[in-house]
Amino acid sequence: MSSMNLAKSLKQKLIQQTLDKKLKKVESAGWKPAAPKSTNNKLSKHTSFEQHPGYKQLQIIKNSAKTLGVPSPFFKVHQGTAGATTLIDDKSVINFASYNYLDLSGHPDVNQAAIDAITQYGTSVSASRIVSGERPIHQELEHAIASTYEVEDALVYVSGHATNVSTIGYLFGPKDLIIHDEYIHNSSVVGSQLSGAKRIPFTHNNLDALDKLLTEHRGQYEQVLIVVEGLYSMDGDHPDLARLVEIKRQHLAFLMVDEAHSFGVLGETGKGLREEAGIAGQDVDIWMGTLSKTLSGCGGYIAGSAALVENLRYLSPGFLYSVGLPAPTAAAALASLQLIHKEPQRIQKLRSISQSFIQQAKALGLNTGESVGIAIIPIILGSSVKAANASAAMLEKGINVQPILYPAVPERSARLRFFLSCEHSEEQIKYTLDTLKSLL
Ligand SMILES: Cc1ncc(COP(=O)(O)O)c(C=O)c1O
Repeated sequence: MSSMNLAKSLKQKLIQQTLDKKLKKVESAGWKPAAPKSTNNKLSKHTSFEQHPGYKQLQIIKNSAKTLGVPSPFFKVHQGTAGATTLIDDKSVINFASYNYLDLSGHPDVNQAAIDAITQYGTSVSASRIVSGERPIHQELEHAIASTYEVEDALVYVSGHATNVSTIGYLFGPKDLIIHDEYIHNSSVVGSQLSGAKRIPFTHNNLDALDKLLTEHRGQYEQVLIVVEGLYSMDGDHPDLARLVEIKRQHLAFLMVDEAHSFGVLGETGKGLREEAGIAGQDVDIWMGTLSKTLSGCGGYIAGSAALVENLRYLSPGFLYSVGLPAPTAAAALASLQLIHKEPQRIQKLRSISQSFIQQAKALGLNTGESVGIAIIPIILGSSVKAANASAAMLEKGINVQPILYPAVPERSARLRFFLSCEHSEEQIKYTLDTLKSLL
């Protein structure tokens, strides 16, 4: 067993022990998992979803939270468009929990484009695009994405998550190696697992570690894929793209960048990590992004060479065997992209308000981790209970910020995560940070 696997299995053992201890505590406080319906053979525990390990773990967490008096931070209902402010329980609050970074979701031009598309094409394209689901708005959106990246072609899927699962899962196989940043999004992990390729995570943003792993392992595999994100959604930091391009060339690997949070955010005009790093679109083999953040829709895209996109268009299961993107969603994403190009001041406003946030937070002695201070800024509190309680107390004071708890991040780095919007004001930032400081 490698030292990494050993550490992993030790960690799992420790987690299990902690969970078992918590279960005992919660059980002694009166809670018991529901008994299986039938106990007449040893298979009975496999015949009830109440006995499913995930469900049992969820009940332990929920009941521990209840015992500790920590309110649930999940599934809060927003009663309108969520931007710099939002309506929760009929109360307008300052909002830091939505990735409407450029305030384009809810923009009148975006709404109108969606309404016009519904009028023309209806709410569903009612088929996979390869059969009868193709509409002109799909092609317009894909051309606009490809031309923004200055690459040959692009393809849009109905879900960002499914884009990664289907693209990685289809393109790679058991003779290949997928090597990814340890903080990569779940969708890339699931895609890698589906592919059957050997999967190795490397230490977050440590490109020396990546280089070393490739030197060690490259020779044993056919295709090799490196996967990173343009802007990490928990930490707000990004990799050194120029170095990544060098490494992928040196080791004859493909490079995939997930721009879910960096497209529309990084670079002078929002063209993403490549603009921030001064890299040509074709230097990265697979650009991936979602339509659900700055493009204010829903779905994902892949942009790259004509061969890559044609291959996926005809053969990747999540595209081929799934309905085409609804026309109003495609139209909303296209209208958002056009506004990004037309109004670069949104990107500059987002950058300057984010910088103001991070500087003030640091001045107050708050721990913002590795964030570069654009759009995503964590305040690390070091305990899930502390983060959940702080989030609830902030809501009482008119501020909505999501706590990020274990197991989404390691317990010692549980945090409040602030998503900034170009529409946040200096007053809102000051009030928020002063309130947080006083609560802590
Ligand atoms: C880095 C990253 N990739 C992919 C996705 C999946 O995108 P979607 O939520 O649009 O399905 C997300 C979700 O936020 C993400 O953060």
